[in-house]
Amino acid sequence: MRRNQDITDAVGETFSIHVNGETVPAIAGESVLSTLLASNIRALSKNDYGRLASAYCGMGVCHCCTLEINARHKQRACQVAVQPDMDVRTEANIVVENTDLESHTVEQGETHV
Ligand code: FES
Repeated sequence: MRRNQDITDAVGETFSIHVNGETVPAIAGESVLSTLLASNIRALSKNDYGRLASAYCGMGVCHCCTLEINARHKQRACQVAVQPDMDVRTEANIVVENTDLESHTVEQGETHV
């Protein structure tokens, strides 16, 4: 995968991270979110109801960029500095992966207690 979304020339030490098993170029000092967006990876997060989302605020408030980093779930991509050989998994949600969403469907008009 290559960076094709940088607005200016990338400056600094470069290294690779792994995103969903693919090698992605990164630059020291940038956030995981910046690395992903620079390579046009935009579907980042899956919420607890299985819906996909992407980054919204970019400053740690909205939690729309949560993903798995180095086997730790629900890490905010915009708040974690990228490190060499980091292992990132997008669209990962431990709640969804361990829950049968079909059996938790709330019918319209039903009160969820
Ligand atoms: S984009 Fe909002 S918390 Fe990361």
